[in-house]
Order: sequence, then C-alpha cells, then structure tokens
Amino acid sequence: MKTDYTKLLQKIEIFVASGATQGEILLNTCKLLKDNVYHYDWVGFYILDEQKSKLNLGPYFGKPTEHTVIPIGKGVCGQVAENKKLKIVQDVSQEGNYIACSIDVQSEIVVPVLKDGNFLAEIDIDSHSPAPFTVDDENFLTAVCQKLSLLF
Ligand code: SME
Repeated sequence: MKTDYTKLLQKIEIFVASGATQGEILLNTCKLLKDNVYHYDWVGFYILDEQKSKLNLGPYFGKPTEHTVIPIGKGVCGQVAENKKLKIVQDVSQEGNYIACSIDVQSEIVVPVLKDGNFLAEIDIDSHSPAPFTVDDENFLTAVCQKLSLLF
C-alpha cells in the first residue's frame, strides 16, 4: 500500500502542538516514521552540540548504534551538518565519506532541521532496501523537519 505521507505529517503536527518535551516528540516521530514507511529501517536524530563542532545522537528508533558523536564533515551526517543540504545516498557502498552502522544498511537519507538558515539538527534514516528514496521522501522529510524546527 502506498504510504500516506500527508496523514503522517498531520500526526507530527499534532505531536508538535501537544506540549510534550522535545525528546518525547522526536522519539514519537522516529517511531511513527519507522513503523509506517516500509523502507525506513532506522530513524534517528543527530543534534548540533553547543560548541557547534560535533553532532550528538538524540532520540532514535531502531538498533542501537555506537556512533553517538559525529564530527562535522564526517560521514553522511557530518556532511549534511556542514552543507545544510539534504543528502541521499542510494548505495552506501559507493559513498566515500560514510560511517557504517550496520551491514544491513544499503541506503541512507539525511535531512537538516534549519531555523533562520541555521543548522540545528538532522533526521537520519537508514534503509535495508537498495535505492528506495524518491522525491516523495525528500518533500515529506523536508516538511517534517520544518515542523520540528519549532521545537529548537
Ligand atoms: N551512516 C551515518 C552514520 C550514522 S548511522 O547511520 C546511525 C553517516 O555516514 O554519517
């Protein structure tokens, strides 16, 4: 069945307006996305540290990762923090600047959370499917990050 991205976005809007903490809202968002989008196998947030030199792992849903701190510029996550632009890697074996988390991961999308053009955090999604990401994921996740930017 085709994913109803509009409905998922509405649910995230409701989370954001709920008055719950930032951590609760981000975790609920991770669960919602992983449970409802077939090709999302690990969903998590990396949050810019106060010194702005590294990313700290925030709420996530999926297998635990040892990559709890990522320097700016390193890996796909670090590149997005540096360039402030969404990045899709349809085949991680072809990406030179990549930090491997699990042998099952085939592809990845990382989308920045921006406020007034400043990078604050990012959503990182790993997939076990080869080349699954389309413009629908780009548009949906960009809208999700816009909604979540209100929390920062
Ligand atoms: N693959 C990421 C590292 C984070 S894990 O996917 C959870 C990267 O290259 O930055």
